[in-house]
Amino acid sequence: MKVREFLLERYFAKYEFTTEHMLSASDCETLSVVELLQGADGEVMDLWNGLRLSYTESRGHPLLLREIAERESMPPENVLVMNPEEGVFLTLNALLDASDHVIVLSPCYQSLYEIPKSIGCEVTRWYLKKEGGEWRLDLRFLEESIRENTRLLVVNFPHNPTGFTPSREQMDEIAELSARHGFFVFSDEMYRGLELSTATLPSASSYIRRSASLGGLSKACGLPGLRIGWVSSHDSWLLNRIATLKDYTSICASAPSEILAIAALRRYDELTGRCRGIVRGNLELARTFFKERDGLFEWYEPSGGSTAFPRLLGEPARGFCDRAVAEHGLLILPDSVFDVDWNHFRIGLGRSSFPEALSVLGRMLSDRAQGRWTGA
Ligand SMILES: Cc1ncc(COP(=O)(O)O)c(C=O)c1O
Repeated sequence: MKVREFLLERYFAKYEFTTEHMLSASDCETLSVVELLQGADGEVMDLWNGLRLSYTESRGHPLLLREIAERESMPPENVLVMNPEEGVFLTLNALLDASDHVIVLSPCYQSLYEIPKSIGCEVTRWYLKKEGGEWRLDLRFLEESIRENTRLLVVNFPHNPTGFTPSREQMDEIAELSARHGFFVFSDEMYRGLELSTATLPSASSYIRRSASLGGLSKACGLPGLRIGWVSSHDSWLLNRIATLKDYTSICASAPSEILAIAALRRYDELTGRCRGIVRGNLELARTFFKERDGLFEWYEPSGGSTAFPRLLGEPARGFCDRAVAEHGLLILPDSVFDVDWNHFRIGLGRSSFPEALSVLGRMLSDRAQGRWTGA
């Protein structure tokens, strides 16, 4: 398999753990194992204390499958546990052949279009539009892009990087197009639970007949280190195909992570509420910061998720981000890592250190205004 380098992950690999100020993480503030287990019930504590580090059931721990199934309104046999990014990789490989046409909501997390490309599929990018400081879904473009051989539509809501979330009516239109034209929908719901000004929609797999949803604990629960996610679908052929491919990737999930994931799902509302609280506080700061500097930035309001995607005015975003990291130890993601050239950049709203990182950006801008910036 030949696949292009993952631009965002390579940028993070270079800077994430060596840069002092993180202003672009997509995950929310994490917890320690002790903090997670402090709220655990007796059954989880017994599982944790008696845990043996053996292989685990390849479809997922039965209790974990039950907890996920309840959250997704699906029967447990319609769920498979795996690392979230593995879920993207395996589902797309299970579904697609080189002769297929795929439509991918864009800009987006690169694997969502790069894996179809690596399989040989033709990919149409369905870009979010901008209108009045907000992101908008162009359903007419989607309909016009459908071809005879369109096999799959890939969506991601709440959306990384823009924070766009659709209405239930828009999702129903997508479901209707899928039913009418016979394409499958892969719905990446890694940020589900982080809706800010819209309702949390049910998992697409529970109401779009030909679909699969990707869920996980990395973003809305702040637990990316567990590496626990899942794919849910009513399509048992697809789930079996994914399970077959998974024997060549991870085989099964990590035993400690599965028990900690059960603990997290039993405190799901509390954990996602905590993350939404952090995001909301940081969003207010960000909105004020960028709107106060409207000669330098255009602000686009996210309605969900843990990221926002403002536009930089007056200079190229890539150079701005490169100088931020090199001269101020401040990590901001340029839109080039999303394969677009719109002069936007991603900020991450989920971390407690956000206010401090934002103040570093403020200092960098005043240094520049006073001509103390070597790159200016
Ligand atoms: C939209 C989207 N899907 C999938 C993933 C993969 O999740 P994880 O990094 O937890 O494997 C990410 C990670 O950033 C993401 O943003």
